[in-house]
Amino acid sequence: MTGDVRHLYVHLPFCAHRCGYCDFVTVVGRSGQHGAYVDVLLCELERERAVLADPVETVFVGGGTPSFTEPEALRRLLAALPPALEVTVEANPETVTPALATLLRESGVTRVSLGAQTFTPRLLEVLERVASPDDVRGAVHTLRDASFDNVSLDLVYGIPGQEPSDLDHDLAEALALAPEHLSLYELEAKRGTRFTHAWGAELERQSEAMEGYFERVVATLTAAGYRWYETANFCLTGGRAGGRDLRAQHNLGYWHGSDYLGVGIGAVSTLGGLRRRNGASIARYVAALAAGADPPRELERLDPLTKAQERVMLGLRLDEPLAVRGVAAAVDRAALARMVQGGLVVAQADASGQETLVLTPRGRFLGGGVTAELLA
Ligand SMILES: C[S@@+](CC[C@H](N)C(=O)[O-])C[C@H]1O[C@@H](n2cnc3c(N)ncnc32)[C@H](O)[C@@H]1O
Ligand code: SF4
Repeated sequence: MTGDVRHLYVHLPFCAHRCGYCDFVTVVGRSGQHGAYVDVLLCELERERAVLADPVETVFVGGGTPSFTEPEALRRLLAALPPALEVTVEANPETVTPALATLLRESGVTRVSLGAQTFTPRLLEVLERVASPDDVRGAVHTLRDASFDNVSLDLVYGIPGQEPSDLDHDLAEALALAPEHLSLYELEAKRGTRFTHAWGAELERQSEAMEGYFERVVATLTAAGYRWYETANFCLTGGRAGGRDLRAQHNLGYWHGSDYLGVGIGAVSTLGGLRRRNGASIARYVAALAAGADPPRELERLDPLTKAQERVMLGLRLDEPLAVRGVAAAVDRAALARMVQGGLVVAQADASGQETLVLTPRGRFLGGGVTAELLA
């Protein structure tokens, strides 16, 4: 029996070390447990497999540091996942050896997302990163040698101590590697992390500079020929993309409001009107699945209005028009008229006469604020 869910997320939580700014579901070390975790994760996948379409379109293996997972466990996991047009694995630069790149390639991985964060040594230190700028460059070259032709780099900006010239340097270094895709995240100071505690005042100063950084990022990357296709995401386009659509197809599924299945600790699934979030405890996850039960989960019912609101919030992050049909109940018409008047939103009919919305560049810089006001 097959279902119609076309996107699969797999969470591998293990990291060599915990970076101070990160509040993802991660577990430090525990190499002795990687194999057992993969075993039970595959049990969870088997229990859920019937919801997946055959074939699925995208698989995303995220973390944590998937590339830090003990190689035999990683190989076993990748071999058991359904094949897909796009199979992405997240990797930390210092873990990318020729052996790992070959393992990924032989296992059907089509895309690697590398966490570079910054190329500025003193800022790497602030972030407590293990990888040096040379590790990032080396990782890209190693992936190219293993014939990966779809590599993404993650960078963050608004790091304590970062100056605009540092950001320019990071962007230039990233562009010199000619990645197919770039994600540029505003560094979020997660409440309760020791990072936020340690850098409070400087994070305040950075938050005031964020809009300027964002504009700098967009100006530099679009001038270099990248498409600003989502608030924080850029890809090569036109001739430089060789005719390929290099947007992150897995994430595009989220932004288009498609259903997805997530397996592993902390993983989230959206299945019709139900959102499920697996618990973050590895011990409870392993115990439940080893006993033949579902892992502990939080369930949330999504009513049609909530779904429509999410669809508007996510859809307006993209550079393509969002069809109003199906989400009209979530749009405040008076606010929309004001936004159109103020040059933040364009409302127009598509080829079939249906009303669509898209943010103007100015609206996109203001981002979430514009969308929040648009919601009924
Ligand atoms: C799931 S994380 C893990 C990737 C990988 N382990 C690494 O550290 O490179 C994916 C991306 O989220 C971003 N990220 C993590 N914490 C963040 C934060 N506090 N604010 C903004 N972006 C963050 C980073 O750019 C990171 O590469
Ligand atoms: S940023 Fe990446 S490597 Fe660092 S703790 Fe988070 S997931 Fe692990």
